[in-house]
Amino acid sequence: MLEATGLAAAYGPVKALDGVSLTVAQGEVAAVLGANGAGKSTLLRTLLGLMPGAGGTVRFCGEDISKLSTPERVRRGLVLVPEGRRVLTGLTVEENLLMGAYPRRDTPGAAELDAIYGRFSNLAARRHMKAGVLSGGEQQMLAIGRAMMARPKLMMLDEPSLGLSPRLTSEVFALIAALNAEGMSILLVEQNALLALEASQRALVLELGREVVAGTSAALLKDDRVRGAYLGAAA
Ligand SMILES: Nc1ncnc2c1ncn2[C@@H]1O[C@H](COP(=O)(O)OP(=O)(O)OP(=O)(O)O)[C@@H](O)[C@H]1O
Ligand SMILES: [Mg+2]
Repeated sequence: MLEATGLAAAYGPVKALDGVSLTVAQGEVAAVLGANGAGKSTLLRTLLGLMPGAGGTVRFCGEDISKLSTPERVRRGLVLVPEGRRVLTGLTVEENLLMGAYPRRDTPGAAELDAIYGRFSNLAARRHMKAGVLSGGEQQMLAIGRAMMARPKLMMLDEPSLGLSPRLTSEVFALIAALNAEGMSILLVEQNALLALEASQRALVLELGREVVAGTSAALLKDDRVRGAYLGAAA
């Protein structure tokens, strides 16, 4: 479904991504692991066309989308839940959800909002409240709900568990599993390597903008480099 080859991106003189390739198959959960500054967020931003001057090829659903604008990519079903959630705290929960449908050419129906509220009862109860009053966990659910309003075929999530309690982290991962079971493909960036490898079928480890290991998550769980550097005491 997604095949990216030779991705390169930089912030001015700083190379953040250097010749990275990755594949996500239809119906799959794929994970990107790596330490702070490894280039994980830059990788997602490059896939979405948010990095000026980026190099490499991105194919999505059989089409080369490398030259398309970000809204064109979103319209094709490639959608990002950004790091730090980025909800607009001065807007209501519902206004934030509707923002997710903004790149679409059609107008979302009430049934679509209801489907989101059916899944997230905390958001339903707070639909007319400012998003700034939500807890961190609720803001993460809002960010995911907003992405769903774009009708993703492949949802990319950048560190969705960051700053959340273990209980809320489990909720986020259960949600990802549920969306995947309903047919959505997932590309997950996560610092918790054990959680990410257990939740995915395929994974890529980045260091300083380059691939260090890639393969099935089952193989990476047994890989000495991954165990030594990323699984720590958990291994
Ligand atoms: N806006 C920016 N301007 C300049 N350099 C940046 C910018 N954003 C990221 N970088 C640099 O690019 C490199 C990759 O950053 P990136 O945010 O992609 O890493 P990451 O793996 O997502 O890290 P984290 O786990 O901290 O989110 C780092 O060296 C970082 O300092
Ligand atoms: Mg990041």
